[in-house]
Amino acid sequence: MAIQTHDLVVQFPGQREPALKNISLTVPDGSFAVLVGASGSGKSTLLHCLAGLITPTSGTVTDNGAPVTEPQPRRGVAFQRDVLFPWMTVADNIDFALAARNLAKGQRQEQISILLDLVGLREDVARQRPTELSGGMRQRVSIARVLAGEPSVMLMDEPFAALDALTRLRMQDLLIDLWTRLNRTIVFVTHDIDEAIRLGDTVSVLRDGRIADHIVNPLSRPRPADALADQPGYSEIRKTLHHQLEDART
Ligand SMILES: Nc1ncnc2c1ncn2[C@@H]1O[C@H](COP(=O)(O)OP(=O)(O)O)[C@@H](O)[C@H]1O
Ligand SMILES: [Mg+2]
Repeated sequence: MAIQTHDLVVQFPGQREPALKNISLTVPDGSFAVLVGASGSGKSTLLHCLAGLITPTSGTVTDNGAPVTEPQPRRGVAFQRDVLFPWMTVADNIDFALAARNLAKGQRQEQISILLDLVGLREDVARQRPTELSGGMRQRVSIARVLAGEPSVMLMDEPFAALDALTRLRMQDLLIDLWTRLNRTIVFVTHDIDEAIRLGDTVSVLRDGRIADHIVNPLSRPRPADALADQPGYSEIRKTLHHQLEDART
């Protein structure tokens, strides 16, 4: 099964043109789909539709065949700016997301340890507040919080855009590792071409609210950051994406 849109149109009030124009996209279960596009091309709007945060003007979004009408824990969302509660400790931030799962207190404690370990954070981070952490650590906590809801689909809107280059590569490694081990479906928005190539099974290019191109990534996995450019197919897909994004600017 899959998460799917059919003929999706979103027209915001007062806007001259629809933000999304007849988007039909299928993201198969367990796959890693990347959306790229220039700023304003509709990436966030599309992701919000998949999450059930926006009701489309027309067309449908389905998840395993069921219409998506509202946000649900099975579709976890992560944003560029982490949305952790600054007044809560890391443990309480994660616990907040666990609350939906009806676990006993002891089980919740255990889950918090498991989740921190999964995202590569030491146990003592649990007692700290988000303001005491680096940007990369905060994004790790954000991912732990998304995972706490046991999503089968993770929807991520430029989650690493604010991080420095090295931290960003490390977070990509973490995400690929989680995706491989946990067998989740991921829809990931970025405007970084190399990030798209490293992560995606497929890369869909958005331009002016339409899918301008849908590319099946020819690179095999693993895709180590320091040898990405050496992999067969790299320069070709890079060139294609580069042109697509350049065109979007004109
Ligand atoms: N809530 C909103 N109200 C009106 N217009 C919006 C709203 N959200 C986005 N838009 C418009 O829709 C288009 C697509 O925006 P968005 O999906 O945020 O693009 P991206 O994430 O690719 O930068 C833009 O023209 C933007 O101005
Ligand atoms: Mg956006």
